[in-house]
Amino acid sequence: MSNPEGELARVERLPEAWRDLIEAAKEACERAYAPYSQFPVGAALRTKSGRVFTGCNIENASSGLTVCAERVALWKAISEGERAFDALAVVTDVGATPCGACRQVLAEFVADIPVLVANLMGDVWVLSQAQLLPLDFPRQSLQILLRGGESGESSPE
Ligand code: THU
Repeated sequence: MSNPEGELARVERLPEAWRDLIEAAKEACERAYAPYSQFPVGAALRTKSGRVFTGCNIENASSGLTVCAERVALWKAISEGERAFDALAVVTDVGATPCGACRQVLAEFVADIPVLVANLMGDVWVLSQAQLLPLDFPRQSLQILLRGGESGESSPE
């Protein structure tokens, strides 16, 4: 992908694996629990091993406890033992990009994967995690801090 701001595409022109991932995110979007915002979000995260974990936003009357769709998908995957990912799809009515908090949470586990931002009309914005969050807070800096400057780096994988 050459354009630093990603590419706009129609869903039917994308590779089958990406179309399937968008479809899974769309189905998850239908399961959103969003009575307060009325803004359903669906996410689908595919692992390198080929499994797909979906998530939807889950709101709460105590609004700070609301969880985004992307994080639900990621936490489901991590808690099932997966740590290597190869694509994320996010579906909303309007094609909204993942929030900053979700970008940072994803950065913990993925260096750079395609992020397929789709709306319900079949438009897809093909971005990458690196485009969405070029300067994450790197876990390596925390490790260096904790080890008093040692350069021991461990991978989450
Ligand atoms: N939301 C997500 O699920 N993902 C994002 O990346 C941004 C926002 C949800 C949270 C809330 O339920 C609703 O969208 C409106 O903010």
